[in-house]
Amino acid sequence: MRVLITGAGGMVGRESVEHCRRLGDEVLAHDRASLDITRDDLIAETFARERPDAVLNCAAWTDVDGCELDPLRAHRVNAEAVGALALASRQVGASFVTVSTDYVFDGEREGFYTQRDDPEPRSVYGVAKLQGERRAQFSTARCTVVRTGWIFGAGGKNFLATVVARARRGEPLKAIFDAWGTPTYAPHLAARLRELAALDLPGTYHVVNAGDGASYEEFAREAADAAGCAGARIEAVSADSLARPAPRPRNSRLRCLLSPAVGLAPLPDWRDALRQFAETQ
Ligand SMILES: NC(=O)c1ccc[n+]([C@@H]2O[C@H](COP(=O)([O-])OP(=O)(O)OC[C@H]3O[C@@H](n4cnc5c(N)ncnc54)[C@H](OP(=O)(O)O)[C@@H]3O)[C@@H](O)[C@H]2O)c1
Repeated sequence: MRVLITGAGGMVGRESVEHCRRLGDEVLAHDRASLDITRDDLIAETFARERPDAVLNCAAWTDVDGCELDPLRAHRVNAEAVGALALASRQVGASFVTVSTDYVFDGEREGFYTQRDDPEPRSVYGVAKLQGERRAQFSTARCTVVRTGWIFGAGGKNFLATVVARARRGEPLKAIFDAWGTPTYAPHLAARLRELAALDLPGTYHVVNAGDGASYEEFAREAADAAGCAGARIEAVSADSLARPAPRPRNSRLRCLLSPAVGLAPLPDWRDALRQFAETQ
């Protein structure tokens, strides 16, 4: 398959490039320097020249607090550009897979969010990502939206990498005890993105590792443990005590109704994924 990947310099983008290459795909990898997704002219030129069979959009402005302070930029990158990529995919006959977020939900629900729950984003980032989903779905029928959350993996500025680094340096760290999500290992997500691109069964999928999810505190303790730092000094704090610019959902655990229906096996349990990640560190 000829797979064009945007955001190839990011955590999920890098894993997706590696995974597709391992499968023998012809990978057209674009980081921000080679394809700024806010440039419609570059998108048109690149797609016309490279004529991909499938497009994985892993590019986004992922600084949730940054988005809150600059809604126009958030909308440009996380909403408008996603629509433009989807339209260009349609024009060259490619299927389009775009990564969205658990932050499209308000977090007030108990239990797990499924496709039957209406998104009610509370942050600028969440609103822009939801608009990105909808613009993409308007622009091409062959659109697969993948909502995910709490991604961990190599090289990311993610919560887990910070936990492991601080625990190894013996530094104390704060972890929120009253917010819950479903952790997702970047290589597992990347493999699922590629599977969904090949399947070409349009829809909105929730892709996270199996298990009942965790609070940040629980996630941090498991991570420190998996990294061999069982004595890490973790201070449990409330989400409200952090006073960050953007609101976050209190509970954004995801579950997928579609994946089992189309024969996709659950991803491994997040605790096993965490141990797999720790072995690579
Ligand atoms: N990380 C999480 O926990 C999480 C949770 C839920 C959903 N997601 C979603 O997962 C996807 C992948 O995120 P990630 O964790 O891999 O984030 P990431 O490491 O920040 O990767 C995003 C990439 O997009 C690039 N980018 C930003 N603006 C761009 C533009 N205008 N044109 C082209 N590329 C641009 C960034 O480049 P620069 O570094 O140069 O800005 C970065 O390399 C995103 O859609 C995100 O919303 C992430």
